[in-house]
Amino acid sequence: MSNDEAKPLPPMPAFYPHPPSDVGQLIQTHPPNIAYIQYDISLEPKYLPQMRALIAKDLSEPYSIYVYRYFLYQWPELCFFAIDTSTDDYALVAVVICKLERHRGGPMRGYIAMLATRNAYRGQGLAKTLVSKAIDLMILKDADEIALETEETNLAAMKLYESLGFLRSKKLHRYYLNGSSAYRLLLYLKPGVASIPLDDFYDPYGCGDLPPSAQDDPRYLHGREDNDDLFSQGII
Ligand SMILES: CC(C)(COP(=O)(O)OP(=O)(O)OC[C@H]1O[C@@H](n2cnc3c(N)ncnc32)[C@H](O)[C@@H]1OP(=O)(O)O)[C@@H](O)C(=O)NCCC(=O)NCCS
Repeated sequence: MSNDEAKPLPPMPAFYPHPPSDVGQLIQTHPPNIAYIQYDISLEPKYLPQMRALIAKDLSEPYSIYVYRYFLYQWPELCFFAIDTSTDDYALVAVVICKLERHRGGPMRGYIAMLATRNAYRGQGLAKTLVSKAIDLMILKDADEIALETEETNLAAMKLYESLGFLRSKKLHRYYLNGSSAYRLLLYLKPGVASIPLDDFYDPYGCGDLPPSAQDDPRYLHGREDNDDLFSQGII
């Protein structure tokens, strides 16, 4: 082995050296100029509008501000985003928004609600890093499984999640408001999780298959006996 090969690599800094005061704690810098931040409510004025703009552009579902606040007020720590530190305003370039709660009295289920990377920043591992951070934290919080839905035609998302170990558990026909179908993907984190029994639950749509945008949409709420409790039941 040559001397060069024997040299240890310098350690990756745990925190970005000089975080500006309004972006919270910055974690890890890779690729260059990209830093990852765990969301905090104090960041809402600066970054919530940027999250909404990015997600509105890329996802087919129209999410109201209440949907964002539903997630970000209850599980702020399960939102991670990436910023470009070479831009003047430390612009947000990718985001993942999640939640974690017991699924119908059964397993502790993490849920990845929204994920997007700005066009110019794709293919550099940003989404995978953000999703991995969310998964790691859910594991720390004792999650049994993690679920999400993605459009059946979304090859990039399917590949990303399958590369992280997610499995297709169900096809959801005409799941989104635009009429397209989705796959539910599940990542099992512990053996035997798939057999944890669920509480009985009135569910006219089958398996609680409500798309995220349905939370404040009367078309979806009609006929549900448990309308008032929709948020606490989970949105999937
Ligand atoms: C899906 C999306 C978030 C991926 O973001 P990204 O930051 O480019 O993803 P990454 O660079 O972290 O890629 C991770 C893995 O995803 C897969 N992937 C990403 N883009 C891909 C593409 N265009 N085609 C095929 N596979 C792709 C690859 O497996 C990749 O791993 P690899 O580079 O080791 O092969 C991004 O394309 C996006 O914002 N799309 C629009 C919004 C969206 O569809 N969100 C997901 C909703 S469920």
